[in-house]
Amino acid sequence: MLGSAGGRKAWIRGCERLIAMGVKLNHTIVHARDKRESAAFYAEVFGFGEPVPFGPFLDVETANEVTLAILESRERFDTQHYAFLVSDEEFDRIFERVTARGLDYWADPARSVKGELNRHFGGRGVYFEDPSGHLLEIITRPYGRWEDI
Ligand SMILES: [Fe+2]
Repeated sequence: MLGSAGGRKAWIRGCERLIAMGVKLNHTIVHARDKRESAAFYAEVFGFGEPVPFGPFLDVETANEVTLAILESRERFDTQHYAFLVSDEEFDRIFERVTARGLDYWADPARSVKGELNRHFGGRGVYFEDPSGHLLEIITRPYGRWEDI
C-alpha cells in the first residue's frame, strides 16, 4: 500500500524497473592490436556490414544494433568475452568460417575441451578467439538456468 513507507519504496522500485526495461546496450569498445585486421575479422566471420570509421574507431554493428567500436591499442589490454546469439543457419555459416580459417575452438570458456561444440540449453555453442585474443562465443539458445547447462 502506498500509504506506508515500505509500500512507497516498493512502488518506486517498480517504476524504476519499468524505466530500466527500456535500457539497451548501445556500444562497447573492443580493443585490438590491429583494428583493421580485427574489424575485417568481425565483418567476415559474423557477416556484419563493412566496418565504418568513427574517429579512432572502426565500428561494426550487430543485428540488434549494438556497435562494437574497435579501437587499436599499443598498450597491453585485458581480453574480454563477447557472446553472440545466432540462428542455427548462422551458426553453421560462422562455424564454417571459423574452421576455414584454421582457428582453434572449444566447447567451454576455460578452453579445456578443444575441437568440440557444446549442447547447452538444447542448442549449440562454441568458443573461439578474435585476432587480439578476445574470447568469442556463438550460441543458438540464450542462456537459461545454471542447473540446465
Ligand atoms: Fe558466455
